[in-house]
Amino acid sequence: MKKYKIAVIPGDGIGPEVIQEGVKVLDTVSEVIGITLEWEYFPFGAEYYLTTRKLLSEEDLKTLESFDAIYLGAVGDPRIKPGILEKGIVLAIRFYFDQYINLRPIKLLPGVRGILKNKTSEDIDFVIIRENTEDFYIGIGGQVKHRKTKEELEVVRQLYKVKFDLDVDISSDTTELAYQIGIISKEGAKRTAKYSFEYALRDNRSKVTFVDKANVLTHIYSLWRKSIEEVVAEYPSISYEFEFADAMAMHLVRAPERYQIITAPNLFGDILSDLGGALMGSLGLVPGGNINPEGVSMFEPIHGSAPKYKGKFIVNPIATIWAGALMLRELGEERGYKLVLNAIVEVLKEGKVKTYDLGGNNKTYEVGDEIARKVKELGLDGS
Ligand code: IPM
Ligand code: MN
Repeated sequence: MKKYKIAVIPGDGIGPEVIQEGVKVLDTVSEVIGITLEWEYFPFGAEYYLTTRKLLSEEDLKTLESFDAIYLGAVGDPRIKPGILEKGIVLAIRFYFDQYINLRPIKLLPGVRGILKNKTSEDIDFVIIRENTEDFYIGIGGQVKHRKTKEELEVVRQLYKVKFDLDVDISSDTTELAYQIGIISKEGAKRTAKYSFEYALRDNRSKVTFVDKANVLTHIYSLWRKSIEEVVAEYPSISYEFEFADAMAMHLVRAPERYQIITAPNLFGDILSDLGGALMGSLGLVPGGNINPEGVSMFEPIHGSAPKYKGKFIVNPIATIWAGALMLRELGEERGYKLVLNAIVEVLKEGKVKTYDLGGNNKTYEVGDEIARKVKELGLDGS
Protein backbone atom coordinates (compact mmCIF):
# COMPACT_ATOMS: atom_id res chain seq x y z
CA MET A 1 0.00 0.00 0.00
CA LYS A 2 1.31 3.42 -0.98
CA LYS A 3 2.11 5.61 1.98
CA TYR A 4 2.64 9.37 2.09
CA LYS A 5 3.99 11.45 4.95
CA ILE A 6 2.16 14.74 5.26
CA ALA A 7 3.23 17.61 7.54
CA VAL A 8 0.19 19.45 8.87
CA ILE A 9 0.35 23.03 10.09
CA PRO A 10 -3.16 23.94 11.29
CA GLY A 11 -2.04 27.46 12.24
CA ASP A 12 -4.20 30.20 13.70
CA GLY A 13 -7.80 31.37 13.93
CA ILE A 14 -10.07 29.06 11.99
CA GLY A 15 -7.07 27.21 10.51
CA PRO A 16 -7.42 24.17 12.81
CA GLU A 17 -11.19 24.00 12.19
CA VAL A 18 -10.85 23.75 8.43
CA ILE A 19 -7.77 21.53 8.49
CA GLN A 20 -9.65 19.02 10.62
CA GLU A 21 -12.22 18.64 7.85
CA GLY A 22 -9.55 18.35 5.19
CA VAL A 23 -7.83 15.56 7.09
CA LYS A 24 -11.20 13.85 7.63
CA VAL A 25 -12.05 13.84 3.93
CA LEU A 26 -8.56 12.81 2.86
CA ASP A 27 -8.56 9.93 5.33
CA THR A 28 -11.86 8.78 3.89
CA VAL A 29 -10.68 8.94 0.30
CA SER A 30 -7.46 7.16 1.25
CA GLU A 31 -9.48 4.24 2.51
CA VAL A 32 -11.48 4.17 -0.70
CA ILE A 33 -8.49 4.22 -3.04
CA GLY A 34 -6.18 2.16 -0.82
CA ILE A 35 -3.41 4.51 0.21
CA THR A 36 -2.19 5.63 3.62
CA LEU A 37 -1.63 9.20 4.67
CA GLU A 38 0.57 9.55 7.71
CA TRP A 39 -0.08 12.92 9.33
CA GLU A 40 2.37 14.71 11.55
CA TYR A 41 1.25 17.92 13.22
CA PHE A 42 3.39 21.04 13.75
CA PRO A 43 2.49 23.90 16.09
CA PHE A 44 3.88 26.82 14.02
CA GLY A 45 1.77 29.93 14.24
CA ALA A 46 0.72 32.72 16.59
CA GLU A 47 0.45 30.79 19.87
CA TYR A 48 3.79 29.08 19.32
CA TYR A 49 5.39 32.41 18.44
CA LEU A 50 3.96 34.21 21.46
CA THR A 51 5.14 31.55 23.89
CA THR A 52 8.52 30.66 22.34
CA ARG A 53 9.32 33.72 20.16
CA LYS A 54 10.06 31.22 17.42
CA LEU A 55 8.66 31.23 13.91
CA LEU A 56 10.24 28.56 11.75
CA SER A 57 13.93 27.79 12.07
CA GLU A 58 16.35 26.43 9.51
CA GLU A 59 16.12 23.16 11.41
CA ASP A 60 12.31 23.14 11.20
CA LEU A 61 12.56 23.67 7.45
CA LYS A 62 14.99 20.76 7.20
CA THR A 63 12.53 18.61 9.15
CA LEU A 64 9.73 19.53 6.74
CA GLU A 65 11.97 18.47 3.88
CA SER A 66 11.48 14.81 4.76
CA PHE A 67 7.73 14.97 4.05
CA ASP A 68 5.94 14.28 0.80
CA ALA A 69 3.81 17.42 1.15
CA ILE A 70 2.72 20.12 3.58
CA TYR A 71 -0.90 20.88 4.45
CA LEU A 72 -1.47 24.35 5.90
CA GLY A 73 -4.56 25.91 7.47
CA ALA A 74 -3.90 29.62 7.83
CA VAL A 75 -1.68 31.94 9.84
CA GLY A 76 -2.37 35.44 11.16
CA ASP A 77 -3.38 36.84 14.53
CA PRO A 78 -4.49 40.32 15.59
CA ARG A 79 -2.03 40.26 18.53
CA ILE A 80 0.90 40.10 16.16
CA LYS A 81 2.04 42.81 13.76
CA PRO A 82 1.04 42.07 10.13
CA GLY A 83 3.86 40.43 8.23
CA ILE A 84 5.63 38.58 11.03
CA LEU A 85 3.79 35.27 10.71
CA GLU A 86 3.17 35.66 6.97
CA LYS A 87 6.86 36.16 6.23
CA GLY A 88 8.16 33.92 8.99
CA ILE A 89 6.00 30.92 8.10
CA VAL A 90 4.09 31.01 4.81
CA LEU A 91 6.64 32.86 2.70
CA ALA A 92 9.54 31.12 4.45
CA ILE A 93 8.16 27.76 3.30
CA ARG A 94 7.32 28.93 -0.22
CA PHE A 95 10.81 30.32 -0.72
CA TYR A 96 12.81 27.61 1.05
CA PHE A 97 11.18 24.85 -0.97
CA ASP A 98 11.24 26.95 -4.14
CA GLN A 99 7.50 26.47 -4.61
CA TYR A 100 7.53 28.69 -7.63
CA ILE A 101 3.97 28.05 -8.77
CA ASN A 102 0.88 29.04 -6.86
CA LEU A 103 -1.99 27.26 -8.56
CA ARG A 104 -5.49 28.55 -7.89
CA PRO A 105 -8.48 27.13 -9.74
CA ILE A 106 -11.36 29.58 -10.10
CA LYS A 107 -14.56 27.84 -11.05
CA LEU A 108 -18.16 28.77 -10.37
CA LEU A 109 -19.65 25.44 -9.35
CA PRO A 110 -23.23 24.44 -10.12
CA GLY A 111 -25.48 25.18 -7.19
CA VAL A 112 -23.40 28.16 -6.03
CA ARG A 113 -24.55 31.72 -6.61
CA GLY A 114 -21.70 33.82 -7.93
CA ILE A 115 -21.84 37.58 -7.65
CA LEU A 116 -22.26 38.20 -11.36
CA LYS A 117 -25.71 38.22 -12.86
CA ASN A 118 -25.98 36.25 -16.11
CA LYS A 119 -22.72 34.37 -15.65
CA THR A 120 -22.91 30.61 -15.33
CA SER A 121 -20.47 27.90 -14.35
CA GLU A 122 -19.49 27.70 -18.00
CA ASP A 123 -18.44 31.35 -18.01
CA ILE A 124 -16.30 31.22 -14.89
CA ASP A 125 -13.79 28.45 -15.24
CA PHE A 126 -10.15 29.40 -15.29
CA VAL A 127 -7.01 28.82 -13.31
CA ILE A 128 -4.64 31.38 -11.89
CA ILE A 129 -0.99 30.45 -12.08
CA ARG A 130 0.79 32.85 -9.82
CA GLU A 131 4.58 33.11 -9.81
CA ASN A 132 5.32 32.49 -6.15
CA THR A 133 8.91 33.41 -5.30
CA GLU A 134 9.70 36.81 -6.84
CA ASP A 135 8.21 40.21 -7.67
CA PHE A 136 7.42 42.51 -4.74
CA TYR A 137 7.24 39.56 -2.37
CA ILE A 138 10.99 39.17 -1.97
CA GLY A 139 11.08 41.35 1.12
CA ILE A 140 13.78 43.70 -0.12
CA GLY A 141 13.52 47.27 1.01
CA GLY A 142 14.06 49.65 3.83
CA GLN A 143 12.81 52.57 5.80
CA VAL A 144 14.74 55.77 5.92
CA LYS A 145 14.17 58.18 8.76
CA HIS A 146 16.25 61.23 9.56
CA ARG A 147 18.91 60.07 7.10
CA LYS A 148 19.28 56.73 8.89
CA THR A 149 18.46 53.55 7.06
CA LYS A 150 17.23 50.16 8.10
CA GLU A 151 17.63 47.71 5.31
CA GLU A 152 17.01 44.20 4.16
CA LEU A 153 18.91 43.89 0.93
CA GLU A 154 19.72 40.28 0.31
CA VAL A 155 17.68 37.65 -1.50
CA VAL A 156 18.53 33.97 -1.50
CA ARG A 157 16.74 31.67 -3.90
CA GLN A 158 17.49 28.26 -5.35
CA LEU A 159 17.94 29.94 -8.74
CA TYR A 160 20.25 32.70 -7.53
CA LYS A 161 21.53 34.81 -4.69
CA VAL A 162 21.48 38.57 -5.04
CA LYS A 163 22.65 41.44 -2.91
CA PHE A 164 21.76 45.07 -3.49
CA ASP A 165 24.27 47.72 -2.68
CA LEU A 166 22.13 50.77 -2.25
CA ASP A 167 23.06 54.25 -1.15
CA VAL A 168 20.06 56.08 0.15
CA ASP A 169 20.64 59.72 0.81
CA ILE A 170 17.70 61.99 1.52
CA SER A 171 18.19 65.68 1.46
CA SER A 172 15.86 66.38 4.34
CA ASP A 173 16.23 65.55 8.01
CA THR A 174 12.55 65.57 8.66
CA THR A 175 11.16 63.39 5.97
CA GLU A 176 10.59 59.70 6.39
CA LEU A 177 10.33 57.31 3.49
CA ALA A 178 10.30 53.65 2.65
CA TYR A 179 11.10 51.70 -0.47
CA GLN A 180 10.46 48.17 -1.62
CA ILE A 181 12.21 46.43 -4.48
CA GLY A 182 10.78 43.78 -6.78
CA ILE A 183 12.67 41.20 -8.80
CA ILE A 184 11.79 39.27 -11.91
CA SER A 185 14.43 36.88 -13.16
CA LYS A 186 14.60 35.44 -16.62
CA GLU A 187 14.68 31.87 -15.38
CA GLY A 188 11.91 32.59 -12.89
CA ALA A 189 9.60 33.95 -15.57
CA LYS A 190 10.50 31.23 -18.07
CA ARG A 191 9.76 28.35 -15.73
CA THR A 192 6.42 29.92 -14.82
CA ALA A 193 5.53 30.31 -18.50
CA LYS A 194 6.57 26.72 -19.21
CA TYR A 195 4.49 25.43 -16.35
CA SER A 196 1.52 27.40 -17.68
CA PHE A 197 1.77 25.99 -21.19
CA GLU A 198 2.30 22.46 -19.89
CA TYR A 199 -0.73 22.91 -17.70
CA ALA A 200 -2.73 24.06 -20.72
CA LEU A 201 -1.73 20.91 -22.63
CA ARG A 202 -2.60 18.63 -19.70
CA ASP A 203 -5.89 20.34 -18.94
CA ASN A 204 -7.07 20.78 -22.55
CA ARG A 205 -6.91 24.56 -22.52
CA SER A 206 -6.01 26.55 -25.61
CA LYS A 207 -4.93 29.95 -24.32
CA VAL A 208 -2.73 31.51 -21.64
CA THR A 209 -3.14 35.16 -20.64
CA PHE A 210 -0.04 36.70 -19.06
CA VAL A 211 -0.60 39.61 -16.70
CA ASP A 212 1.72 42.50 -15.91
CA LYS A 213 1.99 46.26 -15.79
CA ALA A 214 4.71 46.60 -18.40
CA ASN A 215 3.52 50.07 -19.33
CA VAL A 216 4.64 51.52 -16.01
CA LEU A 217 6.88 49.07 -14.15
CA THR A 218 8.96 48.84 -17.27
CA HIS A 219 12.11 47.36 -15.77
CA ILE A 220 10.78 44.20 -14.29
CA TYR A 221 7.83 43.50 -16.55
CA SER A 222 9.63 44.01 -19.82
CA LEU A 223 11.96 41.22 -18.72
CA TRP A 224 8.87 39.21 -17.73
CA ARG A 225 7.51 39.62 -21.28
CA LYS A 226 10.81 38.99 -23.00
CA SER A 227 11.41 35.81 -21.01
CA ILE A 228 7.92 34.50 -21.75
CA GLU A 229 8.43 35.22 -25.45
CA GLU A 230 11.46 32.93 -25.32
CA VAL A 231 9.26 30.02 -24.31
CA VAL A 232 6.18 30.39 -26.50
CA ALA A 233 7.69 28.84 -29.64
CA GLU A 234 7.86 25.49 -27.86
CA TYR A 235 4.06 25.46 -27.57
CA PRO A 236 2.65 26.27 -31.00
CA SER A 237 -0.75 24.73 -30.24
CA ILE A 238 -1.47 27.07 -27.33
CA SER A 239 -2.19 30.73 -28.00
CA TYR A 240 -1.14 33.46 -25.62
CA GLU A 241 -1.64 37.14 -24.93
CA PHE A 242 -0.43 39.82 -22.53
CA GLU A 243 -2.76 41.99 -20.56
CA PHE A 244 -2.24 44.84 -18.11
CA ALA A 245 -3.34 44.08 -14.58
CA ASP A 246 -5.74 47.02 -14.32
CA ALA A 247 -7.56 46.13 -17.53
CA MET A 248 -7.68 42.54 -16.43
CA ALA A 249 -9.39 43.44 -13.14
CA MET A 250 -12.17 45.01 -15.21
CA HIS A 251 -12.38 42.24 -17.77
CA LEU A 252 -12.52 39.57 -15.10
CA VAL A 253 -15.73 41.13 -13.86
CA ARG A 254 -17.22 42.01 -17.24
CA ALA A 255 -16.22 38.97 -19.26
CA PRO A 256 -14.64 36.20 -17.18
CA GLU A 257 -15.44 33.73 -19.98
CA ARG A 258 -12.49 35.17 -21.90
CA TYR A 259 -10.01 33.46 -19.64
CA GLN A 260 -8.68 29.95 -19.38
CA ILE A 261 -5.31 30.33 -17.72
CA ILE A 262 -4.15 33.55 -16.12
CA THR A 263 -0.45 33.65 -15.39
CA ALA A 264 0.59 36.50 -13.16
CA PRO A 265 3.54 37.83 -11.23
CA ASN A 266 3.27 37.32 -7.48
CA LEU A 267 1.48 40.49 -6.33
CA PHE A 268 -1.05 40.78 -9.15
CA GLY A 269 -1.69 37.07 -8.79
CA ASP A 270 -2.46 37.57 -5.11
CA ILE A 271 -4.93 40.37 -5.80
CA LEU A 272 -6.64 38.74 -8.76
CA SER A 273 -7.13 35.49 -6.90
CA ASP A 274 -9.26 37.16 -4.23
CA LEU A 275 -11.27 38.71 -7.04
CA GLY A 276 -11.60 35.17 -8.35
CA GLY A 277 -12.97 34.12 -4.96
CA ALA A 278 -15.77 36.66 -5.33
CA LEU A 279 -16.54 35.35 -8.84
CA MET A 280 -16.82 31.87 -7.36
CA GLY A 281 -19.34 33.03 -4.80
CA SER A 282 -17.10 32.76 -1.74
CA LEU A 283 -13.46 33.06 -0.81
CA GLY A 284 -14.18 30.05 1.35
CA LEU A 285 -14.14 27.87 -1.76
CA VAL A 286 -10.77 28.72 -3.30
CA PRO A 287 -7.86 26.33 -2.82
CA GLY A 288 -4.22 26.98 -3.52
CA GLY A 289 -1.28 24.75 -4.27
CA ASN A 290 2.23 26.10 -3.71
CA ILE A 291 4.02 23.83 -6.08
CA ASN A 292 7.56 22.83 -6.79
CA PRO A 293 7.08 20.13 -9.42
CA GLU A 294 10.34 18.48 -8.33
CA GLY A 295 10.19 19.14 -4.63
CA VAL A 296 8.02 19.49 -1.54
CA SER A 297 4.77 21.33 -2.24
CA MET A 298 2.35 22.99 0.17
CA PHE A 299 -1.44 23.11 -0.04
CA GLU A 300 -3.71 25.61 1.68
CA PRO A 301 -6.95 27.53 1.31
CA ILE A 302 -6.30 31.00 -0.11
CA HIS A 303 -8.32 32.69 2.64
CA GLY A 304 -6.80 33.82 5.93
CA SER A 305 -7.24 32.85 9.57
CA ALA A 306 -10.47 34.86 10.09
CA PRO A 307 -9.83 35.37 13.83
CA LYS A 308 -13.30 36.68 14.59
CA TYR A 309 -14.85 33.36 13.61
CA LYS A 310 -12.44 31.22 15.60
CA GLY A 311 -14.13 28.58 17.74
CA LYS A 312 -17.54 29.10 16.16
CA PHE A 313 -17.20 26.31 13.58
CA ILE A 314 -19.14 28.23 10.98
CA VAL A 315 -16.59 28.86 8.24
CA ASN A 316 -16.52 26.96 4.97
CA PRO A 317 -14.00 24.09 4.93
CA ILE A 318 -14.33 23.48 1.18
CA ALA A 319 -11.28 25.56 0.15
CA THR A 320 -9.14 23.44 2.46
CA ILE A 321 -10.73 20.17 1.39
CA TRP A 322 -10.21 21.12 -2.26
CA ALA A 323 -6.59 22.06 -1.46
CA GLY A 324 -6.27 18.53 -0.09
CA ALA A 325 -7.54 17.21 -3.41
CA LEU A 326 -4.88 19.23 -5.23
CA MET A 327 -2.32 17.66 -2.90
CA LEU A 328 -3.46 14.16 -3.90
CA ARG A 329 -3.20 15.11 -7.56
CA GLU A 330 0.33 16.43 -7.10
CA LEU A 331 1.27 13.20 -5.30
CA GLY A 332 0.08 11.29 -8.35
CA GLU A 333 -3.22 10.10 -6.87
CA GLU A 334 -5.47 11.25 -9.69
CA ARG A 335 -8.40 9.05 -8.72
CA GLY A 336 -8.36 10.40 -5.18
CA TYR A 337 -8.26 13.94 -6.53
CA LYS A 338 -11.26 13.32 -8.76
CA LEU A 339 -13.25 11.63 -6.03
CA VAL A 340 -12.81 14.54 -3.65
CA LEU A 341 -13.54 17.13 -6.31
CA ASN A 342 -16.63 15.29 -7.51
CA ALA A 343 -17.83 14.94 -3.94
CA ILE A 344 -17.47 18.71 -3.43
CA VAL A 345 -19.34 19.37 -6.68
CA GLU A 346 -22.14 16.97 -5.76
CA VAL A 347 -22.60 18.32 -2.25
CA LEU A 348 -22.76 21.88 -3.55
CA LYS A 349 -25.18 20.90 -6.30
CA GLU A 350 -27.48 19.20 -3.82
CA GLY A 351 -27.25 22.35 -1.71
CA LYS A 352 -28.56 20.71 1.45
CA VAL A 353 -25.50 21.14 3.63
CA LYS A 354 -23.73 24.48 3.42
CA THR A 355 -22.12 27.15 5.55
CA TYR A 356 -23.32 30.74 6.01
CA ASP A 357 -21.18 32.20 3.19
CA LEU A 358 -23.25 30.16 0.73
CA GLY A 359 -26.54 31.03 2.38
CA GLY A 360 -26.75 27.99 4.65
CA ASN A 361 -26.38 27.53 8.38
CA ASN A 362 -24.48 24.30 8.71
CA LYS A 363 -21.38 23.90 10.80
CA THR A 364 -17.90 23.49 9.38
CA TYR A 365 -17.76 19.83 10.46
CA GLU A 366 -21.19 19.04 8.99
CA VAL A 367 -19.91 20.07 5.58
CA GLY A 368 -16.79 17.93 6.12
CA ASP A 369 -18.94 14.96 7.16
CA GLU A 370 -21.19 15.35 4.14
CA ILE A 371 -18.29 15.51 1.68
CA ALA A 372 -16.64 12.49 3.32
CA ARG A 373 -19.95 10.60 3.03
CA LYS A 374 -20.20 11.57 -0.62
CA VAL A 375 -16.63 10.41 -1.28
CA LYS A 376 -17.56 6.98 0.09
CA GLU A 377 -20.75 6.86 -1.95
CA LEU A 378 -19.00 7.82 -5.18
CA GLY A 379 -16.19 5.38 -4.37
CA LEU A 380 -18.68 2.52 -4.02
CA ASP A 381 -20.17 3.50 -7.37
CA GLY A 382 -16.77 2.74 -8.79
CA SER A 383 -15.97 6.29 -9.91
C1 IPM B 1 -2.26 34.31 -0.01
C2 IPM B 1 -2.05 35.17 1.19
C3 IPM B 1 -0.55 35.28 1.42
C4 IPM B 1 0.02 36.03 0.23
C5 IPM B 1 -0.06 35.88 2.73
C6 IPM B 1 -0.65 35.18 3.92
C7 IPM B 1 1.45 35.86 2.81
O1 IPM B 1 -2.68 36.40 1.03
O2 IPM B 1 -1.82 33.14 0.02
O3 IPM B 1 -2.84 34.77 -1.00
O4 IPM B 1 -0.01 37.27 0.17
O5 IPM B 1 0.51 35.36 -0.67
MN1 MN C 1 -3.88 36.53 -0.80
